[in-house]
Order: sequence, then structure tokens, then C-alpha cells
Amino acid sequence: MALKKMTADEAAKLINNNDNVGFSGFTHAGCPKAVPRALAARAEEEHRAGREFRIGMFTGASTGDSIDGALTRAQAVKFRTPYQTNGDMRRAINNEEFAYFDLHLSTLAQDLRYGFYGPVDVAIIEACDVTEDGEIVPTVGVGISPTICRLADKVIVELNAWHPRQLRGIHDLTQVQDPPHRTDTGIEEVRDRIGKDHIKVDPSKIVVVEVNEPNEGSDFAPVDEVTRKIGENVAAFFVGEMKGGRIPQSFLPIQSGVGNIANAVLAALADSPDIPDMEVYTEVIQDAVIDMLLSGRVKFASGSSLTVSNPCMDKIYENLSFFKERVLLRTTEFSNNPEVVRRLGIIAMNTALEADIFGNINSTNVMGSKIMNGVGGSGDFTRAAYLSIFLSPSVAKGGKISAFVPMVSHTDHSEHDVKVIISEYGVADLRGKSPRERAELIIENCAHPDYRPLLRKYLESGTKGQTPVNLYNAFAFHRAFLETGDMMNAEIK
Ligand code: COA
Repeated sequence: MALKKMTADEAAKLINNNDNVGFSGFTHAGCPKAVPRALAARAEEEHRAGREFRIGMFTGASTGDSIDGALTRAQAVKFRTPYQTNGDMRRAINNEEFAYFDLHLSTLAQDLRYGFYGPVDVAIIEACDVTEDGEIVPTVGVGISPTICRLADKVIVELNAWHPRQLRGIHDLTQVQDPPHRTDTGIEEVRDRIGKDHIKVDPSKIVVVEVNEPNEGSDFAPVDEVTRKIGENVAAFFVGEMKGGRIPQSFLPIQSGVGNIANAVLAALADSPDIPDMEVYTEVIQDAVIDMLLSGRVKFASGSSLTVSNPCMDKIYENLSFFKERVLLRTTEFSNNPEVVRRLGIIAMNTALEADIFGNINSTNVMGSKIMNGVGGSGDFTRAAYLSIFLSPSVAKGGKISAFVPMVSHTDHSEHDVKVIISEYGVADLRGKSPRERAELIIENCAHPDYRPLLRKYLESGTKGQTPVNLYNAFAFHRAFLETGDMMNAEIK
């Protein structure tokens, strides 16, 4: 049976006010573009005609501007989950224009199957291939695609000729069984393949929209002095751990978070002659990993997306058979699966917005109230990791914000999950340390020297006890920033 074909505008008309829509992809990678833009235009048209038009949005993680940006600007969002990074969407969320709920990325697909967030009415999937019997081959980001294809009544496939059909074979696509029938994942090594190279959907649910559009990739900031130093500190720490016998000589698979710092740290690991060639079991495969695959420093990489700049994407497509032998793209419930993370002994490295001197981490909410991006996969990896590491520059906003504060203004990862913190000044190894010992290490080794006297004063002012907090001064740094624009003006009484 031939699949139904439509234009993006026609496909957008299949979506109704109040529908819940699932989008393929993970970061900008693998996201549809033409249909969501047409959907945004349809929403604006409906609004002009005086009719309500808003949708609920389920995504793998952040998306491209054609989804989060366009739909936000069209005021077409009713609710959205999980991670997001789009400037317009961030402003709208913090302006409380619609409901946003943040959750661990590995849990969204199962939560949808459990029915926690209502139905998925429509799935919009970017694909490099789709067959008449309903085999859909995603492009370079997977996220929650198999689950939304299964649950949705309609599946709109945005068939994007920019991505070669030969991508088929780079994916490992399956879903975990839901309780009480869940078994183990079957992933015992980074390169283990447990699923199929396509998503199978009843072809009568599918409509196809043909497009040819590049990825909405963005470049990484160049490595600067601070990120270079953080990277060197991470590499030196690993070398010490190997010498001390706490990391095996063959090394362990690494997970590295999103953003500029993660990219710079990977580059530093690549440059360290004392760190062996490694495997990566992570969520987003960024530019640095692609270079390390090419140089042989990374032997294999498993992730949920190729979140790379467009020049890097060209490199991959010019040498696709090389990368298909060394890369697997999985659904997020496998790329971030805590069972697998614990089994493989993954070393997890994620970036903090702020940490407190006792080792609690805020990854998401600036000054406690404004969402930055979301928790992403940092929690999936952190708690289950062999070794959980948080990275942060010691200060932000030209020194007016200290990343190390008396008490975090929002908690994503608690002291019980965080083993090591690293800034450009050094390493605080928190393993086996009491809260007071942790505080001393974090202040001496990680905080910016200008902030150390204030932090010491706070610690000295703490109430005697297991965790020497001082509830009167706990938010003195944040208050000073909100009132004067500079945490250095904090008053510790
Ligand atoms: N208060 C206010 N702003 C802060 C801050 C703080 N304590 N710390 C950092 N920032 C700002 C920076 O100034 C920068 O702002 P700008 O974009 O206006 O310049 C921005 O946050 C990003 O910080 P940067 O230092 O460039 O780091 P990054 O690109 O590595 O991003 C996170 C850092 C925390 C935002 C990012 O890693 C994240 O979203 N983490 C949560 C999810 C996660 O860990 N995912 C990985 C799982 S696999």
C-alpha cells in the first residue's frame, strides 16, 4: 500500500487544538522542522480568527528553533516537557505563559506508556527513510520516537532528503517492557545492540511530508582559559585515580553532559597521554567525540543523538561507514538507563549552575526561580554512576556570581549522589567526607579565591551539628546578587 503524502501545511491541519504532540529528536538533532513551522503558522491563523489553538508537547530533550521557538512565538503551547534550551521558550516559561514540567529524560517514554501525562495524539518524526510497510528510519536524534510512534493515532513522517538513507544501521531501536514484565536491558557492553534499525508502525497511521532541510546545528564556544583548566583538572584527577587503582587501567566508559564545558573537557581527555583510548556511553555525542572517534581516542560511542555543528555533520556523512561501525544511536530510555549506567560503571561528568559547600547541586534554576534548561539526563547518570563528577567555573557573570554558595537555591542532585566537584582551581574529592569536611575542600579547592573569605565566614557561622548550615545567612549570596547585582556584597552575620 502506498503511503499517503501531503504538504507540511496539509499535515499541520491533522493536528487539533488541545492535542498532545510528540516530536522526534534529541537537541536539534533529529527534529522535524517544516511541519512544526506549519503548525505554528496554523496556530497564528486560528488565533487571528479568534479561536483557541494550543498543544501539549512531548520531546526527547531540547529541540530546534522550528519546534520550540516557532511554537512559543505563535503562543501555541499548552504545556511542555522535558528539557529545553530555546531562548524564546525559556522566557515564556519564566513568564509563566504555559506549564512546563522538568523530569529525568530516561523516564519520559515510560511515563507516557504508563499514561501519566495523557494521550499522545500525534507524533511528528523526522526520518531519512520510510517504507510502504511502515518501517521508519530516524535521522540523527532518537529521544522518545519509538514510544510516541506506538502511542500516537497519527504519525507524520517528515522525510528529510538532507540526511542520507544510508543512515539505516546506525540506530538501535527498541522499548523496554513495562512492569511487571520488565527484564534486564541486555546491554552488557557499550557496543551491544539489542534492537532494530527502524521503528515499525502500522502504515495506515502514517502520512509523509517530503522536505530537504539542513540541521539547525550551532557551534560550540572555543575552549577558553577557564574551560581548558577545568579539562586539565579532570584529566589529572583521572590519572591519579588510575594510579591509585580506583579506576581500572583499561578505563571505564564516560558520559559527558551538554554544553561548552563538557565539550572542552572531552578535548582535554583526548590530549592527555596518560588516559587510555576510551568508550563513551552518553546522551549527546558532541563535536569533540567525533574528533576523538576519528583520531582513535574514542573506540566506540553510544548516545541518543549526534548533536554536532553542521561542518561536523558533513564530516560524518563524508565517512558514514566509518561512523556506523563506531556509533550507536539509541532511545533515551536506553542511552540514559540507570540500570546500564550502574552495570557498565560509567564515569558521569555533568555541569552545575551552582553547588553549595556541602555538595548539593543546582543544574537548572537560576537564583532558584528562573529555569535555565532543565535537569536533562544529569540525574539519570549521576545517581547510578561509578563516579559522579560535577564541573563548574568558579564564577559566572564576570565574577558577580559565585558558583559555590552557602546553600543552593534549587536542588537537582543531592550531597548523597555527588562524589567529586571540579572547577578551574582544582578538585574537591567528597568521597567519604562529612559535610564539614566537604565544605572545607570545596572552599579551598574549587571556590574563587575572592569568595573564599566570605564562604569561610559562613561556615564558621554555621550551627553546630552534622551539617553546619546557618539558616539566617543561607541565601545571603543570592540576596546580595538580587539586591545589588553582586554576590561579593553578601553580608554574613
Ligand atoms: N547563576 C546564573 N547564571 C549562571 C550561573 C549561575 N550560578 N552559572 C552559569 N550561568 C550562566 C552562564 O553565565 C551562561 O550564561 P550566558 O549563556 O548568558 O553566557 C550560562 O549559564 C551557561 O553557562 P556555561 O558556563 O556557558 O556552561 P554550559 O554551556 O556548559 O551550560 C548548564 C551549563 C548547567 C546550563 C548546562 O550544562 C545544563 O543545562 N545542565 C543541566 C542538564 C545536564 O546536565 N545535562 C547533561 C546530561 S547528559
